[in-house]
Amino acid sequence: MTRIIGILSGKGGVGKTTLVSNLGVTLAQAGRKVGIIDANLSGANLGLHFGLISYPTSVHDVMRGNTALTDAMYKHPSGVDIVPASLSIEDLDVEPTNIRQQILEHMSDKDYVLIDCATGLDRETMKAMEMVDDVILVTHPELPTISDALRTKTIAKKYDKNILGIVLNRVNRSDELKKENISAFFDLPVIGVIPEDHFIRKSIEAKNPITLEYPKHKISHEIKSISHYLMGKEYRHQQSLVDKIKSFFRK
Ligand SMILES: Nc1ncnc2c1ncn2[C@@H]1O[C@H](COP(=O)(O)OP(=O)(O)OP(=O)(O)O)[C@@H](O)[C@H]1O
Ligand SMILES: [Mg+2]
Repeated sequence: MTRIIGILSGKGGVGKTTLVSNLGVTLAQAGRKVGIIDANLSGANLGLHFGLISYPTSVHDVMRGNTALTDAMYKHPSGVDIVPASLSIEDLDVEPTNIRQQILEHMSDKDYVLIDCATGLDRETMKAMEMVDDVILVTHPELPTISDALRTKTIAKKYDKNILGIVLNRVNRSDELKKENISAFFDLPVIGVIPEDHFIRKSIEAKNPITLEYPKHKISHEIKSISHYLMGKEYRHQQSLVDKIKSFFRK
């Protein structure tokens, strides 16, 4: 059965789109059928992570009701099916719509459909929230960002969504808030701890998610570990000494 998972946050710019693109890739690499949808209608950029720059139809057309979801779907060589949002300012007037029914009908072959959500708690986010079964909350390990994410958790609970857990992104050695404390604060498991890695920028420039561009980086293993969590599997990986040394000097 298809699981529709929304990737949400409180604050913007915490790494939702980066997580969606890379989780999509790692789930596909593990043999799962994956679709990813850009529901960030006013801040679209999911397609760019895969080098999708111009496309005739987008999720905006689907929400307008004049295009079938399958006609706005683009296959990436990794196996991920991407439904990008329009980059055109002319499409900004589109009313956010709940397209859950279309997802269930046209993406029923998918094991996972990941929804890249907008930031904040406005209509765009709420409509996306209505579409999903499960929620993953992304935050940085710092109090203001955590407090905003907590507000999103409360809303997701009100919508009766199953919250899978927290992903901590851009974690570095000087962070004082520890995983256990953050987990206790949310009363949710921390299902991923993604390190700061400035090669993310290079991978975006290369139009290739970091798990494809730099598969040996610690960050790629951490994202694989989250995809294993979603599949109900344990991820065991021992970074080689050489890769550990390389990671150390990249910091
Ligand atoms: N682990 C990381 N290490 C370093 N940079 C990162 C990491 N994760 C994300 N970034 C950078 O942070 C920026 C924001 O990431 P991203 O676009 O994925 O966030 P977002 O939550 O989707 O933002 P928005 O709310 O605007 O949609 C990007 O420039 C990305 O390169
Ligand atoms: Mg985003």
